[in-house]
Amino acid sequence: MGIKELTKKDTVKICIFYFSGTGNTAWSAHKLAEKLNAFNYQVKLVSCEHEMNIDSEINNCDMVGLAFPIHSSFAPLLFREFLKKLPECTNKPLIALTTAGYVAGDVLWYTLKPLENKGYIPRVFSNIIIGNNMHLPVLSPLRVTKPDRLPKKLEKAEKKIEKMASCIKEGTLHIEGIGPFGRLLGLVQRGIADNFESFAFKGFHSDEKCVQCGWCIKNCPNHSIEEDNEGVKFLDSCILCMRCYSFCPYHAIQMTDKTKNMRKYKRYTGPEGKRS
Ligand SMILES: Cc1cc2nc3c(=O)[nH]c(=O)nc-3n(C[C@H](O)[C@H](O)[C@H](O)COP(=O)(O)O)c2cc1C
Repeated sequence: MGIKELTKKDTVKICIFYFSGTGNTAWSAHKLAEKLNAFNYQVKLVSCEHEMNIDSEINNCDMVGLAFPIHSSFAPLLFREFLKKLPECTNKPLIALTTAGYVAGDVLWYTLKPLENKGYIPRVFSNIIIGNNMHLPVLSPLRVTKPDRLPKKLEKAEKKIEKMASCIKEGTLHIEGIGPFGRLLGLVQRGIADNFESFAFKGFHSDEKCVQCGWCIKNCPNHSIEEDNEGVKFLDSCILCMRCYSFCPYHAIQMTDKTKNMRKYKRYTGPEGKRS
């Protein structure tokens, strides 16, 4: 069924699958759901970290939504693995958003293009610039977005999400990031960071403030943190989502010794100002 026909249906069911390391994408997906619900869509939000019967979720919806943060012009590894599990379907309209700290380029198009071969039809793709959750203490003192800067960014992000919901409602085709600038940015970033997680900095470790409360182990989306008698261990399967580093209750997780300086390397607090 095409998006135009859907606009005539009484109840359109949308299932939005998302991954969020530090809360920006979860916040954006919830906002989109809120706005679509107000247009009488029936929206279900599913975190890809949770157990689900993906085939039945897809079969039961009229339109599929996807939402993920940009990790250097890629989707996070966990989400890429999730996408591989999406079943084949027939002409299912696809809507998607990515969240970024600065600029998102063509990541939606690049990541989701293979889904066209499985029967998903791209309809509305939006880049939501929201807040940076990433420190790069090795390369540069790139700062995360401070809490006092967030409200303005969230306001802008919400307007963008509102526009996205309107495009969905009106059945307008709207695909962002496929102009020359977006494509060039994507190409350059991916050229530098091909297979980002395998080469990127992974120096996460706990310091003397760690009380082994287990929060990081319980909340790591990829089960990449373990503990033994000697303390907490960070495994190579880390996808760099920044959740443990940002929300450790004791600020005991560091990237390098530099990040112990909490005045310089403040942790990202997320749109809700608390742990996701
Ligand atoms: C490993 C990593 C790479 C990132 N790369 C980019 C990037 O290339 N461009 C950008 O604007 N933001 C980048 N960011 C920032 C995040 O995309 C942004 O803060 C996002 O909204 C986080 O979403 P979340 O809170 O749902 O995890 C990166 C963040 C991480 C952790």
